[in-house]
Amino acid sequence: MKNSKTKTICFTNNKGGSGKSTACANLAYELSRAGKKVLMVDTDMQLNLSLSFFDEEKVLEMAESEKNLYYAIKKKDDLKDYIVSTPYENLDLIPSSTLISQIEYELFTMMQREYILKKCLKGIYESEEYDYVLLDAPPTLGTWVINILCTSDYVIVPVEASPWGLFGLANMFDFLGGMGEMTEAAVMGVLITKVDERKNYYKQTREILAGYEAIHVFDSFIHVDTAIEWAQDASVPVGIYKKSTRSAKEFSQLAKEVMEYGSR
Ligand SMILES: Nc1ncnc2c1ncn2[C@@H]1O[C@H](COP(=O)(O)OP(=O)(O)O)[C@@H](O)[C@H]1O
Ligand SMILES: [Mg+2]
Repeated sequence: MKNSKTKTICFTNNKGGSGKSTACANLAYELSRAGKKVLMVDTDMQLNLSLSFFDEEKVLEMAESEKNLYYAIKKKDDLKDYIVSTPYENLDLIPSSTLISQIEYELFTMMQREYILKKCLKGIYESEEYDYVLLDAPPTLGTWVINILCTSDYVIVPVEASPWGLFGLANMFDFLGGMGEMTEAAVMGVLITKVDERKNYYKQTREILAGYEAIHVFDSFIHVDTAIEWAQDASVPVGIYKKSTRSAKEFSQLAKEVMEYGSR
C-alpha cells in the first residue's frame, strides 16, 4: 500500500496508436480544470505527453538536460526535484528523455528493479500535494511497464474502435493478471477512442468488450476529431485549442467519470 490520498492512474495498452498519450494529456488537463491538482509523468521515449504541453524545442531541451525521468531512475532520485510547471494552473509534468529507450537495460542490474519508479515517487505520495498522478506508458510489456503498474492504483486502457483495436488486449490483461501481488493496480476502465460514426466499429468494439465481464468500459468515449491533431500541433490540450469541439467535451465528461469512480 502506498498509503497516500494521491490516486495514481496509468494509461497502458501494448498496442501503439490506441490513444494513450492523447487521453493522458487531455484527461489530466480536464481534471486540473475541475480543480484537482494533477502531476503527469511522461514515461515514453516518444515524448508525446511532453509535446502535448511544450513545443519541440523546449521538450528536446528537457530531454537533453539531466532533469528528466531517465536520470531520476538511474540515480534513484526523489522525483519531487524533477517537476516542471505547465502553463496551466494545478497541472505539472515530469518530462521524459529519448534515453528511456535504454531503461530496460539500466533496470536489469538494479535490486528490486520492479519498484524503482514507485520509490522515486514516494516523496510525492507522502506530501499528498497532488490529487492525481497520471502516467503515460509506452506501448511495451516489460520491466519498465511493470514499474509503472507497480506504482499505479488504477489502469485506464484506451482502445481504438477499429478492426485491430482489440487485438492483443487479452495479452495485456493476462500480463496484468500475471503480476499477482506485485501490484494492486486495478483496471478502472477501458476507454474507446477514435470513434468514427461512418464506420460500425464502435458498436462492435463495445459488444466484444462486454464479453470481458470483470472489465469496466467507460460510458464516455472519444470520437475521431481533427481538432485533437491541431491541438497537438500547437502543444495545447484540445480544450484550450477549441473548447466547443466534440472531443473536448468528451474528455471533460471522462474526467467526471474518473472523479466519481471510487466514490460510488
Ligand atoms: N480522438 C482522436 N481523433 C483524431 N486523432 C486522434 C485521436 N486520438 C488520437 N489521435 C491521433 O492518433 C495518433 C495516436 O494517438 P496517441 O495518443 O499518440 O496514441 P498512443 O499514445 O497510444 O500511441 C496520434 O497521431 C493522435 O494525434
Ligand atoms: Mg503514446
